[in-house]
Amino acid sequence: MEDFLNAIDRHGWGSLPGCVGEGDSLRLKGECVDASERGEFKRAGVGRGLNLEVREDIRRDQVMWLQPGEGMAGTDSYLAMLEVLRLALNQRFFLGLFAFEGHFAIYPEGAFYKAHLDRHAGTSDRIVTAILYLNQDWQPGDGGELKLWTTPEGRDGAFVLIEPRMGTLVCFLAGDFWHEVLPATKVRMSITGWFRQR
Ligand code: OGA
Ligand code: MN
Repeated sequence: MEDFLNAIDRHGWGSLPGCVGEGDSLRLKGECVDASERGEFKRAGVGRGLNLEVREDIRRDQVMWLQPGEGMAGTDSYLAMLEVLRLALNQRFFLGLFAFEGHFAIYPEGAFYKAHLDRHAGTSDRIVTAILYLNQDWQPGDGGELKLWTTPEGRDGAFVLIEPRMGTLVCFLAGDFWHEVLPATKVRMSITGWFRQR
């Protein structure tokens, strides 16, 4: 965790494989699959408020927003872990993060999310993005990598490809880093969310 915070400090982003153990990750994945089978996922939109629209040319995932205390023990314990991370980020970087909002995301085979920033136009409430991947036995060639451009040049500059392996946590500054989800050859699951300021 210390190395992870150091990376965020130095580079504005960090990746921590094995952040969530296999047992907890599988429980989260089970809750994701169960909710999906209950029909609780909706096609994800682009934009916010009155400008929110489904744009299949931009993103093709389905999402379900997390609610604490809904009887999903894995979700509640992940939210508790994020609370520890929120306090650590505040203590170290004085970010004044006060809450987390997030959703399960399912990318069906072939789905993608084109290059974007996580901060909506005219807003500044989303400060840090946190993504946990829930894909067991992910192999090179399965696709679905997170492509994260790591320099101020954005999409003209250097990038890293992060495999969406079960238990890997990725964080980056939501307003600064262009990123994209590459198409995967099988279903891809994750929990994506944002630490927010008021
Ligand atoms: C998002 C997003 C990346 C990922 O939901 O905004 O960029 O790797 N997700 O799932
Ligand atoms: Mn994003």
